[in-house]
Amino acid sequence: MDLADIGVTGLATMGRNLARNLARHGYAVAVHNRTYGRTQQLVKEFGGEGTFVPSEDLAAFVASLKRPRRAIIMVKAGAGTDAVIDQLADLMEPGDMIVDGGNAHFDDTRRREAALRERGIHFVGTGISGGEEGALNGPSIMPGGSKESWEALGPILQDIAAKVEGVPCSVHVGPDGAGHFVKMVHNGIEYSDMQLIAESYDLLRQALGATPAELAEVFREWNRGDLDSYLIEITAEVLDQVDAETGKPFVDIVVDQAEQKGTGRWTVQSALDLGVPVTGIAEATFARALSGHPEQRAAAAALRGPKLSGVGGRELIEDVRQALYASKIVAYAQGFDQMAAASKEYGWDLDLGAMATIWRGGCIIRAKFLDRIRAAYDADPSLPTLLADPTFAAVLDTAQEAWRRVVTTAVQIGVPTPGFSSALAYYDGLRRDRLPAALVQGLRDYFGAHTYHRVDKEGAFHTDWSGDRAEHSA
Ligand code: 6PG
Repeated sequence: MDLADIGVTGLATMGRNLARNLARHGYAVAVHNRTYGRTQQLVKEFGGEGTFVPSEDLAAFVASLKRPRRAIIMVKAGAGTDAVIDQLADLMEPGDMIVDGGNAHFDDTRRREAALRERGIHFVGTGISGGEEGALNGPSIMPGGSKESWEALGPILQDIAAKVEGVPCSVHVGPDGAGHFVKMVHNGIEYSDMQLIAESYDLLRQALGATPAELAEVFREWNRGDLDSYLIEITAEVLDQVDAETGKPFVDIVVDQAEQKGTGRWTVQSALDLGVPVTGIAEATFARALSGHPEQRAAAAALRGPKLSGVGGRELIEDVRQALYASKIVAYAQGFDQMAAASKEYGWDLDLGAMATIWRGGCIIRAKFLDRIRAAYDADPSLPTLLADPTFAAVLDTAQEAWRRVVTTAVQIGVPTPGFSSALAYYDGLRRDRLPAALVQGLRDYFGAHTYHRVDKEGAFHTDWSGDRAEHSA
């Protein structure tokens, strides 16, 4: 029997499509699923697309792989992943590679990588973005793990990944959990992108009384400019959709409670640990949480809002476009800061420009705009914040008046825009010469003798607040 080049275990939609993508690129693909029926179904339906080597159990699956073995696990992230990894590892030999293509938490990936390294097995936690369609036709692939594993896997991953101007949307992200970390931040940014889009839609609908179909046209128009991206494109599609049963706009028949599988929450948790203000992602995550409390929403429904309702004219559309673009720049700047901080903390040596490059295609947040981020890091790899890049600084400068008008309008008519407002507050906070953090420090010293630093000399100081209020070196 011919041995397979690579294997996929876990053949739900993502796994099945990834296996098909590999087969279509000429690789012989070992396939396995907990229930054999699904494996048979894949071979029956798509066997004509390439070479599949089906196995009924994991031992046969591992035996059907060329050495060093390359096995991709595509199971739902969680405890189940550990079980599959353990079973696979027991069947494998030093030098073999286990690739986890699910949305695992990067800490789990770090733990698993360290444990398997002890046994000589390479563990590669990889982010794969692009949903079902991407898995089949070219996702963005973000693998972590050892350099050796990248040498053996990289060419295959780059082969099946999306390409933008001929450049594959996959690079070796970094050691151990780096790949899953970068995918996590990708998802966090995905949350904030969607929140900003949702705020744009909501504000324009409430302020102008525009219909979803009219707003679909607005998004379609925006997609021809700076905002050109997959999420803007599909927003137009969703807003245009009419419910067949009621004839109402589709968006009006969907329950307004946004769910999550947890990667946005993880991003915010990690950002808190790293001390990076990812306010855009946090607001997006909390906005989902707020939407998911119907009992509180019902109890608060009688609270009064402002008297003002419809305001402004068509010029609000262009203002919102600029506010969306500016807020998006802030959200990405924050996400990239988080990757930079993690890179330092975990010793990953992440190439931020390369991360922008592999997100240009295949993934959910793919956008023209990522070219500009890459250019910013090309120009200055140690850029302290994307906001300081001259191109982005100029965009923010142009957009800021519109941005402020949008936040003002939203506040006046009582439409919540936490994404826009917090992004603007971040922009204003970061650019400030003096922040009121000085007063916070004073208060901390007053009640807790936590000390402070002075602007004019070195050292830490404490004022004897309860005594003579003289200052002492701490
Ligand atoms: C992707 C997506 C994918 C998934 C998210 C959705 O990159 O292809 O990000 O990973 O759609 O996990 O996340 P929520 O269910 O948390 O919104």
